[in-house]
Amino acid sequence: MNIDIITIFPEIFDFYLGQSLISKAQKKGVLKIKTHQLRDFTNDKHNTVDDKPFGGGRGMVLKAEPIIGALKVLGYFGGRSNRVTSTKSKVKVILFSPRGKKFTQKMATNWAKQSQLIFICGRYEAIDERVAKNLATDVVSIGDYVLMGGELPALVAIEAVARLLPGAVGNSEALIGERITKTGGFIEYPQYTRPDVVEIKGKKARVPKVLLSGNHKKIDEWRAKHSKVIE
Ligand code: ADE
Repeated sequence: MNIDIITIFPEIFDFYLGQSLISKAQKKGVLKIKTHQLRDFTNDKHNTVDDKPFGGGRGMVLKAEPIIGALKVLGYFGGRSNRVTSTKSKVKVILFSPRGKKFTQKMATNWAKQSQLIFICGRYEAIDERVAKNLATDVVSIGDYVLMGGELPALVAIEAVARLLPGAVGNSEALIGERITKTGGFIEYPQYTRPDVVEIKGKKARVPKVLLSGNHKKIDEWRAKHSKVIE
C-alpha cells in the first residue's frame, strides 16, 4: 500500500514514522509512506498556500490550487475529469476536517484494502471548500474536537490502517483471523501478563483465575463477556 501525505509540515511525520513498527513495515515493503510539501506546488515567489476568505471573516483559508497541483503530480485527473470519483478504484483521497465523517475501525478496515491513500492535511481556519466538494473521495474527522491541522489525524489513521496490513505487525494475521468481526469491527478484551499477582497501593492485584485455568472454552466465554467491539 502507498500512502501519500500532502502537508505544509512534512517534518511532523518524519520522526514518528521513522520510529515505530510502521518504520519496520516500510522496510519490509508492506507500506510505502511519502510526504509532499504543499508549498512545492505553489507558483509565486513566497510559496503562498493561504489567502483571505471570500465574504470576509477571521483567519486564513488554505488555497485549492496547490492541492490541485499536488494531486496532479500524484497522477490524478490526467485529462478529462477533475474530480476523483471512482468508488471502484483502489485509491482514496482523504481530506481531514472536523466537519467530516467520523473515523471508525470499519473505515480503517476498508482503507486497509486500498492500494493507495492520499491524505490532505488542512491547516489555518479552513480549506477552500472545493477541495472537499470536487477532489476528496472522503472527508474525515477523528473526533468532535478541533485540532490545529490534519497532521495528527493522518498519523492516527496511518496507525489504525497499518496494523491491519498483512505482514505489517508481527501477529497481524492472528488479529485479522480472530479479532476482526464480519463487519470490519475489532474485538477488544482485557489482557494480563506475568506475574499473576502484583502489589498496587499495598493491595494484591490478581489476574482473573479463569485466565490461569488452561480451560480454553471458559477463557473464550470470559473474553466474550468482557469484550467491546470497536466499530
Ligand atoms: N482538523 C482539525 N480538527 C480535526 C479533527 N477533529 N479531525 C480531523 N481533522 C481535523
